[in-house]
Amino acid sequence: MGAESPSRVAVVLAAGKGTRMRSELPKVVHEAAGRPLLAWVLDAARAASCRRLLVVVGHGAEAVREALGGADVEWIEQREQLGTGHALAQAEGRLAEPQTVLVLSGDVPLVTAATLTRLLEAAAGSWGAMAVARLAEPGSLGRVVPRAGGALERIVEAADAGPEELALDTVNAGIYALPAPQIFARLAELTPDNAKGELYLTDALNAVAAAGERIALVELGDPDEALGVNTRGDLARVHRALLDRKAAALADAGVTLLEPARTGIEPRVEVGADTVVHADVSLSGETVVGRGCTLGQGVWVRDSKLGDGAVVEPYSVIDGADVGPGCRVGPFARLRPGATLGRGSKIGNFVEVKNSRLGDGVKANHLSYLGDATVGDGANIGAGTVTCNYDGFAKHRTEIGGGASIGSDTMLVAPVSVGENAETAAGSVITADVPPGALGVGRAKQRNVGGWTERRRRGRKEKR
Ligand code: UD1
Ligand code: CA
Repeated sequence: MGAESPSRVAVVLAAGKGTRMRSELPKVVHEAAGRPLLAWVLDAARAASCRRLLVVVGHGAEAVREALGGADVEWIEQREQLGTGHALAQAEGRLAEPQTVLVLSGDVPLVTAATLTRLLEAAAGSWGAMAVARLAEPGSLGRVVPRAGGALERIVEAADAGPEELALDTVNAGIYALPAPQIFARLAELTPDNAKGELYLTDALNAVAAAGERIALVELGDPDEALGVNTRGDLARVHRALLDRKAAALADAGVTLLEPARTGIEPRVEVGADTVVHADVSLSGETVVGRGCTLGQGVWVRDSKLGDGAVVEPYSVIDGADVGPGCRVGPFARLRPGATLGRGSKIGNFVEVKNSRLGDGVKANHLSYLGDATVGDGANIGAGTVTCNYDGFAKHRTEIGGGASIGSDTMLVAPVSVGENAETAAGSVITADVPPGALGVGRAKQRNVGGWTERRRRGRKEKR
C-alpha cells in the first residue's frame, strides 16, 4: 500500500450482455453468496484503497445502478457492447492524468485486495501487469502463452484457440494494472477480426507485447480468484467458492463447521468462536452469531442476532430476530421480524413469534403463535396459545406480565393484558384484561350427559 495508495483508480468492465446466462437481468447483477457479482468486485477495489471507482455499464445500465447504489461509484455508459477493449476505451475521458489504472471484470468476483496491490507492484517495474492462474478446467477463459521471465507473449481467446492453445492451463483472470494514457492509444487500433467479432482488450495487450514491451504475469495464489461468470454453472461455482472461503476463515477463527461443504454462511455474517454449526445451516444477511452457540441441522437464519451460548435445534427459521444469550429455540420454531427473546428463554417446536418482545426466561414450548405481544420475565406460555392480534382491520397488542402462566389453548383476543403472576385457565378465550395475580377463566362450563353412547347406538339400530 504505502504512499501511492490515495491515487489508486479502478475501472470495472460491467457492460456486457452475458448472453450465455439466458437472463432478463444484466449478468453482473446476478447474485453469488447473497450479493450482486459486481458488489464483490467493488468491495475488493475499495479494500485496496482505490480512490476512484469507474464502472462501465451498458446492457441494463439502469438495473445495475439500482442494484449497486454506491455514492462512491462513477458510472460510464458504453452504449453498444462491442467488446472489452471498447468498454475500457469509454473511460478515456475520465482519466486525464498519466497513471497506472486497475482494470477489473465485473463478472470476476473473487478477486482480493491483496492481488490488486500485487498487480500494481508488478506494473511498477514493467509496462503493465495482468493476473493469471492455473486452472484444471480452464473452460471458456482466455489462454496465456508466457514469455521467458514471467512476461506475456500472447493471450488467445478460447473461441479463437486451436487445440494446442486450448490445452494450455494458464488463463487470463481478466484483472490488470495498465498505464494510462498509453493503453488508450492501443485500444484505438483494435479491429474486430476474431471469432466473436468484438474489440478485444486482450488484443491490445498482445500488440504491446509484440512491440517488445514487458507485461508482467502475476500468478494468483488462490486460482479461485480467476473464476469468472459466463454461465449459470459458473455462477454456482463462484457462489460455492465464496461460501467455502468464508467457511475456511471461520474454521481458522475457532468455529466448528461439521459439514463445511453443506453449509452456506455468507461472507459478511459474523460467528463467534466455539460455535458449532451442523450440516445444511444457512446464515445470511446482517447476521451475528455469538460465541459457544450450537446451530442444529437445517437451521436457517437471516438478518438476526444470536447471543452467546444460544442453542438452535434443527430446522428452525429465524428472520429479523434478536435471540438473547443462552436461549433455546426449536426444533421447528419460527422467529419472524421483530421477535426479541431475553436471556435464557425457550421457544419450542411449532411456535411462531412475530414482532414481540419476550423477557428473560420466558417459556413457550409447544404449538403457539405470539404476535404483537410483550411478555414479562419468567412467564410460561402453555401449548396451543394464540395471540389473536388481527381483527380483520388492524393489529392489536397483547401484554403478558412477568411470572404469568397462560394455560394451554388460551386465545388472547387483543388488545388485552394478563397481569403479573396472573393465570388463565386452559382453553380460555380471554377478551378482557386479567388483573395481576388473578385467574382468568373464559370458557363454557362443562356438563356431562349421562348414558349418551348407549342412546346413540339404540337410535341407529331403530332406523335400520
Ligand atoms: C474475458 C477475456 C478473457 C479472460 C476472461 C476472464 C477478453 C477479450 N477476454 O473473456 O481473456 O480470460 O475475460 O474472465 O477480454 N464487457 C463490457 N463491454 C463489452 C464486453 C464485455 O463491459 O462490450 C464486460 C463484461 O460485462 C464482463 C467483462 O467485460 O464483466 C468481460 O467480458 P466477457 O464478455 O465476459 O469476456 P470473457 O469472454 O469472459
Ligand atoms: Ca467473462
